[in-house]
Amino acid sequence: MVTAGQPQLLLGDLLERARREIPAAGADELEAQRVRLLGRKGELSALLRGMGALPAGERPAAGAAVNAARDEIEALLTARREAILREARAAELGGAPIDVTLPGRRIAARGRRHPVSEAQDDLVEILARMGYEVAEGPEIELDYYNFEALNMPPDHPARDMQDTFYVRPPAGARTAGPILLRTHTSPVQIRTMLARPPPVRICSPGKVYRRDDDPTHSPMFHQIEVLCVDRDITFGHLAGTLDAFVRGFFGEDFRVRLRPSYFPFVEPGAEVDVTCTFCLGKGCRTCKGSGFVEVLGAGLVHPRVLRAVGYDPEEVSGFAFGCGIDRLAMLRSGIDDLRLFFENDLRFLEQA
Ligand code: PHE
Repeated sequence: MVTAGQPQLLLGDLLERARREIPAAGADELEAQRVRLLGRKGELSALLRGMGALPAGERPAAGAAVNAARDEIEALLTARREAILREARAAELGGAPIDVTLPGRRIAARGRRHPVSEAQDDLVEILARMGYEVAEGPEIELDYYNFEALNMPPDHPARDMQDTFYVRPPAGARTAGPILLRTHTSPVQIRTMLARPPPVRICSPGKVYRRDDDPTHSPMFHQIEVLCVDRDITFGHLAGTLDAFVRGFFGEDFRVRLRPSYFPFVEPGAEVDVTCTFCLGKGCRTCKGSGFVEVLGAGLVHPRVLRAVGYDPEEVSGFAFGCGIDRLAMLRSGIDDLRLFFENDLRFLEQA
């Protein structure tokens, strides 16, 4: 314990020790020294407290000596700290060189993109090259956007084509009509057109939901919606776009075939087939001998839909199509059970 008896002498000892020990201290020890010497409960503070016992005449000189000692110790600590950093740096630079040309460690199991994601990216890229931008919409959707604005009023029989999951809103919540998991990506058509004036060229990939579960249907699957609205858009534009879309995805040898069909939000409507990927058009079990398999629904945007979003069907026209991404991915990689995509068996995903 430092006593007040002979402060000058004690200060001398303390300084002498600091001059000896600090320049030799390592990094951890240096911090311990700082605390022991300069800390609030350290030796210098104790000396200062002890000075209260000195005759009043001696106090100023003693105080000045303690301050000078503090300055010197601080300078010693700083110098040593810098020296330690310099030594570390020199050791680093002077050590064994790193050979940046050494081969890296091989990663045993490499991840890869899911075949459905790959198909989706390919489709978006094909459409982007044709000037389409990506638009998105919610998976939990209002009945209005999913059905009503698409020319399917509440009692419309076409609603039965798409077995719907309805969502019960939280108790007391006020919603603009029934809520559901979107059954297709077509509501994004409505949301996009409501948000901006024509012309519109968008594609919208995403998840959709239907109450279905068998080898070719999953309750959740992926669609991509394509919508083009402008002046003088014709069925010919639709056919040409479908042709480019399908060939871009499957290859130049593939052909599209359109068959008249019905969807409430288009007029006329069509179902679109593509050359069977299993037999390349020769006819097989998958295509039931026809050489074609169905891949998507399409048509010219119904005038009622254009009016529902505030567009003038006398001024603009458009086409739309929607297709199952999983189905396209299955066809392209020759997979016959959709559920394989969602079981996440790595042995399957690595091959697909
Ligand atoms: N939404 C339709 C479906 O899911 C597909 C479609 C989109 C048809 C756009 C015509 C136009 O079955």
